[in-house]
Amino acid sequence: KENKLWGGRFEEGVTDAVERFTESISYDWQLYKYDIMGSKAHASMLAAQGLITAGDKDIILEGLDQIEKLIQDGKFEWRKDREDVHMNIEAALIEKVGEPAKKLHTARSRNDQIVTDLRLWCRDAIDKILTRIKQFQVSLVLLASKYIDLIVPGYTHLQRAQPVLLPHLLLSYVEQLERDAGRLVNCRERLNFCPLGACALAGTGLPIDRFKTAKDLKFTAPMKNSIDAVSDRDFVLEFLAANSIAAVHLSRIGEEWVLWASEEFGFLTPSDSVSTGSSIMPQKKNPDPMELVRGKSARVVGDLMTVLTLCKGLPQAYNRDLQEDKEPLFDSVKAVLGMLEVCTEFAQNISFNSKRIQSSLPAGYLDATTLADYLVKKGVPFRTSHEIVGRSVALCVSKNCQLAELGIDDLKAVHPVFEADVYEYLGVENAVNKFISYGSTGSEQVKKQLEDWRAQLGIS
Ligand code: ARG
Repeated sequence: KENKLWGGRFEEGVTDAVERFTESISYDWQLYKYDIMGSKAHASMLAAQGLITAGDKDIILEGLDQIEKLIQDGKFEWRKDREDVHMNIEAALIEKVGEPAKKLHTARSRNDQIVTDLRLWCRDAIDKILTRIKQFQVSLVLLASKYIDLIVPGYTHLQRAQPVLLPHLLLSYVEQLERDAGRLVNCRERLNFCPLGACALAGTGLPIDRFKTAKDLKFTAPMKNSIDAVSDRDFVLEFLAANSIAAVHLSRIGEEWVLWASEEFGFLTPSDSVSTGSSIMPQKKNPDPMELVRGKSARVVGDLMTVLTLCKGLPQAYNRDLQEDKEPLFDSVKAVLGMLEVCTEFAQNISFNSKRIQSSLPAGYLDATTLADYLVKKGVPFRTSHEIVGRSVALCVSKNCQLAELGIDDLKAVHPVFEADVYEYLGVENAVNKFISYGSTGSEQVKKQLEDWRAQLGIS
C-alpha cells in the first residue's frame, strides 16, 4: 500500500472498512476543475511571494494542466486510497513532476482548500441555475403572449373565486421565479469571499498574500477570519434554502398543471413529447414530468434538512462531518436544474383548451365580487353589498341560473338599488374588464406587465 500524504506519524495503514467509509473521491472528484484552479492561484501566489521559485511554479502549473486534461479525457485514475480530490490530484502531481509538486501544499490545508473549491463550485452552479430560471421565465412569457385574452377561472381554496386572464396567472409564476433568482444572486454575492490561506484554521506564519489569490480567483476579497473561513457552510445552507424555495414554487406549478391536465379540469393538454403512458392502461397519457417536478422538490428540501442537521452540532473550525455537505449540495443542484429544464419544455409543449375553459366559465359565480363592487359604486356600504350579492347568489342557486340571467325585477326584488346598468358588470368578460387596480387582472394592467416582462427578458 502507498504511504498516505499524511502518513508520517502512522505505523500502520487504515483498515479497508475505514478507507471505504471515509473516502469522498467517489463524489468530490466533481470539484476537480475548481481544485486545480485554486492550486494554480495558490502556486502563483507562492512564487510571487518568493516562497517557491518561478521555475517550480511553472512546473506545477504545467503539471496541473496535464492532469486536468487527463481528467477531462477520462484518463485519470481516481484512487480511493488517496481519499479525496485534493490528495488524488496532489499525489498524481508529485508522481508526474516530482519534487516541485511537494511545495504546492505550503501554507495550505485541505480545510481551506475544500471550502475554496466548494465556493467556486457554488458560484458556477448558481450561474447555471440562473440561466435556467430565465429560460423558464421566457417560456412562460411566450406562453402568456399566445393567450393574451383568455379568461380562466381563478381559484382560492381550489374553489372558483374570480375570473382572471391566463397571462396574469402565468406572470404570477414569472414573478416568483424572479425572486428565486434574486435569492440566488444574493447568495452568490455573500459566498464570494475567499477562504484560501486560512490554512488549517489559524492562518500561517509564512508571508502569503491572500489578497492576490482572492483576486486571481475572482473573489470579492479574502475572508477576514481564518477560523470562520474553514468552519462555516452557511453559504451551502443559503444556496440549499434558495433552491428549496424555488423547488417548492416549481412543485406548485407542477401540481397546478397536473390538475389542469386532468379530465375533470381539461384546461390544458401537454403534447405527446412531454407525456408518458401506462404499461397496462392503453388509453393513458400522463403528465409525468410535472409530477416528477413535484416529486423532486422533496429531495431538494431534504438536502437542505440534511445539511442543516449536519451543521447544528459542530464546534467551531473544520470537522470531518463537513465532508457530508457535498452529496446533498450536488443533488440539490442537479435536481433543480432538471426541474427547471423540464418545466421549460413543458411550457413550450402545452396548449390551453380555450373552448373547454370558456364553456366552463359560467359556473361558480365568478362575477359575484364584481357585482358587490357595482353596489359600492352606487353608494352601498361593502358589508351590505356583500349581503345583497350573497342573497342574489342564493336566488340563482334556487333558480339554477347565473347572475347575468336574473331579470332586473328579480334583482330589484333582492334590493331596489339594482338598475339596468348592472348587466355591464355581469358575466366573466364584463367582470374582468372592470379590474383597474395596479397589479390586477384587468387587461390594461396585464398587457402592460407582459410588455415589461418581454422587455426585461429581451424578447422582441
Ligand atoms: N474531504 C474533506 C471534505 O470534504 C476535505 C477536507 C479534509 N480535511 C481533513 N483534515 N481531513 O471536507
